[in-house]
Amino acid sequence: MKDYKQLVAQAVYAAVDGQLNEEAIIEKIEQPKDLKLGDYAFPAFVLAKVLRKAPQMIAQELVEKIDTTNFEKVEAVGPYVNFFLDKAAFSEDVLQDVLTKQEHFGDATTGNGRQVPIDMSSPNIAKPMSMGHLRSTVIGNSIALLMEKSGYKPVKINHLGDWGTQFGKLMRAYELWGSEEEVKNDPINSLLGYYVRFHQEDVENPQLDDEARDWFKRLEDGDEEATRLWKWFREESLKAFTTVYDRLGIEFDSYNGEAFYNDKMDEVVEILEDKGLLKESQGAQIVDLEAYNLNPALIKKTDGATLYITRDLAAAMYRKRTYDFAQSLYVVGNEQSNHFKQLKAVLKEMGYDWSDDIHHIPFGLITQGGKKLSTRSGRVILLEKVLDDAVALAKEQIEAKNPGLANKDQVAEEVGVGAVVFHDLKNERLNNFDFDLEEVVRFEGETGPYVQYSHARAMSILRKAGVTKIDPAKAYAVTDENAWETLRLLGEFPETVARAVAEYEPSVIAKYAIHLAKAFNKYYAHSKILVEDDQLEARLALVASVADVLKEALRLLGVAAPDEM
Ligand code: ARG
Repeated sequence: MKDYKQLVAQAVYAAVDGQLNEEAIIEKIEQPKDLKLGDYAFPAFVLAKVLRKAPQMIAQELVEKIDTTNFEKVEAVGPYVNFFLDKAAFSEDVLQDVLTKQEHFGDATTGNGRQVPIDMSSPNIAKPMSMGHLRSTVIGNSIALLMEKSGYKPVKINHLGDWGTQFGKLMRAYELWGSEEEVKNDPINSLLGYYVRFHQEDVENPQLDDEARDWFKRLEDGDEEATRLWKWFREESLKAFTTVYDRLGIEFDSYNGEAFYNDKMDEVVEILEDKGLLKESQGAQIVDLEAYNLNPALIKKTDGATLYITRDLAAAMYRKRTYDFAQSLYVVGNEQSNHFKQLKAVLKEMGYDWSDDIHHIPFGLITQGGKKLSTRSGRVILLEKVLDDAVALAKEQIEAKNPGLANKDQVAEEVGVGAVVFHDLKNERLNNFDFDLEEVVRFEGETGPYVQYSHARAMSILRKAGVTKIDPAKAYAVTDENAWETLRLLGEFPETVARAVAEYEPSVIAKYAIHLAKAFNKYYAHSKILVEDDQLEARLALVASVADVLKEALRLLGVAAPDEM
């Protein structure tokens, strides 16, 4: 596809007699919100100072000088020069590009094949996966897909919370009250139950804490029974997590969690010592971060135990060595911002410039009825139940709209699960949002099912027309005014992908998909597509392109696009 903004800039440049260079012009060019005002606008007032003339006059004079070969027309409106693209030429250009490249439309080579580890999901063993972990999972997955489309090699890492003193408590609790049966039947809930009971009983019975410490010590020393239990708890928990991952269609490249770094922390501590960065503070070992306006990083406790950040330091170094990353991303809730600032600061102090390539990708909370979710208050959302309910709602709507549909259950799964994922991703990641299932699964409005439905509608038009393949080599000039917004949006897909990648923001794609679906549905409502005239083929090419791009946008969000629903 031609770069139309560049064409506009060139035309302006040729007319301004060197008062601005092309780059400066590009920066100034705007896209009017209302397409009636044209497709691009150059604000002539940026020349007012140098030319010492009224902006309106400059705009007028520019219009007279501008070569209009590439445009339908160029007009002065107030202080603006408005450019209208040649619709037929644009249509031919964009449709050819989409139909030739199909799902590769919008691919880029920005990443040069460099690897990007993405730390995502990372739930804690023996606890239920929270909505926060779900957010991390779907945001991380979408960012991975976006990075891949831009030529990076994403590495999806599930940094499981599988180490720490809580495992000592869990083992002591299991020893006292646990049963193998129970754990096998319902691992997460039974393990959580033991853990909760431990915390209730240790109020009366503080020696439980010492016993838990002993168990953790046994685990750290590689004691056989402790290790067996740890492995078993980890395995059972992972099985439960995996059922969720499977439904979301998400796979990880690595499950190296916190425990993986046990034998890799001595090196961290040694380097910190060698560089004179470790200080003693009340018996504990810390790195002072006052220069960064941060609290000190606690590296080792009084009893010599390492901490979350010690393991993250080892993990960061391991990832640099293993992947020689271009960037290293951590998709983790906003509430851990300080932790990642500390992590980056300590690495910087250690002399690693690549600390600058580490990016924490924070996100906001999911609330319900405006309130924070919390296990203690009983305001919890159980992930599997959310997915099941969403699928049931989707099924109801499919029954009502399309009772004859084949493979209803599979489509309902794709729509229900897709709805939850889409809803999560359409919100800017830093915003908190409220979870209301009915809202999430609606077939109208700004929802996943709406976008999926629009894609299915495009596919159904093609089926009705009996189109199986469209020759991308032909020129398809759709000149219908009603189709213009859709055509323009198709052309914007590549830059939209680039923006989503640069901002690590899947919502850019979700919003784009809604916008394109709306534009397409408006076109469909105002213009007849399946009439036999000389534009029929061109219109079908447009419909096929919309289907391709909607499908690809949904794929980048990790959402399926059924052909029929
Ligand atoms: N397990 C942690 C939690 O649930 C998240 C881990 C994030 N990743 C990391 N490398 N620190 O809060």
